[in-house]
Amino acid sequence: MAKEPELATIAVYSLKGGVGKTTFAINLAWASAAISRRRTLLWDLDPQAAASWLISTDRQSRDAAQAIFSKDVEVRKLIQPSTVPGLDLIAADTSLRSLDHLFREMDKKKRLAKLIESLGQDYDRIILDCPPGLTETSEQVLRATNMVVIPVIPSPLSQRAMGEVARYLVQRGGSHAPIMPVYSMVDRRRALHRKALEDQPGWPAIPMASMVEQMTVKRKPLGAFAASSPPAQSFAGLWTTIERQVQKHQKNGG
Ligand SMILES: Nc1ncnc2c1ncn2[C@@H]1O[C@H](COP(=O)(O)OP(=O)(O)OP(=O)(O)O)[C@@H](O)[C@H]1O
Ligand SMILES: [Mg+2]
Repeated sequence: MAKEPELATIAVYSLKGGVGKTTFAINLAWASAAISRRRTLLWDLDPQAAASWLISTDRQSRDAAQAIFSKDVEVRKLIQPSTVPGLDLIAADTSLRSLDHLFREMDKKKRLAKLIESLGQDYDRIILDCPPGLTETSEQVLRATNMVVIPVIPSPLSQRAMGEVARYLVQRGGSHAPIMPVYSMVDRRRALHRKALEDQPGWPAIPMASMVEQMTVKRKPLGAFAASSPPAQSFAGLWTTIERQVQKHQKNGG
């Protein structure tokens, strides 16, 4: 009998804001549920709650997202179906604004990791949409995930932020999930973008496309309304790459 796939958790994270994290999280979660047919959970950790707004079926904000971490609310109670079949959601709300503070107060370094572990029977893939910054929350994320996907706009500032994260990880020491930088909002007509791509030929790339902005009008992942468009195809390809890496690491026991 084929072995059940193990739970893998993939974080979409960046030091910088506005680089495409939420766009990545939604489209990767869609690919996991719709293409790979994995039982998938999207966990929105950003108080801006953009991912939640895009795919939530529950329009009521409960202001309970942070209570999961203080154990005042059982994690399963906040799981809701999303508008995508096979994809569940833990929605964010403004209570998450003080999540960093809570994590510091609690002094439980693996709180998020333990909560994720407790969902291992129910899901094959958990995707985390993270707020920007190098914070207590990102530390929790680094300890809880199998892979960290970092969207990088091909610009000096964005690439610098990627370098900062890499340096931080070296200084920090200890083990952490493997990092996968991915170019985001790539416009090959721009010399700067072409140069960046030449510098890092191994990094996957997602093109800049107005279709991506349409997601916020339609409130749907790309795959749900434009599955054959170039950006949707790029996200599907990225998902395949991530799946391969995650499975390789799991096989190697790491
Ligand atoms: N490939 C793309 N092509 C065109 N527009 C894009 C693309 N990716 C993202 N965008 C747009 O860029 C904006 C920022 O994207 P997104 O919200 O995903 O970034 P973010 O990193 O999650 O931001 P924040 O740090 O605020 O959470 C959005 O308006 C989104 O629609
Ligand atoms: Mg976001």
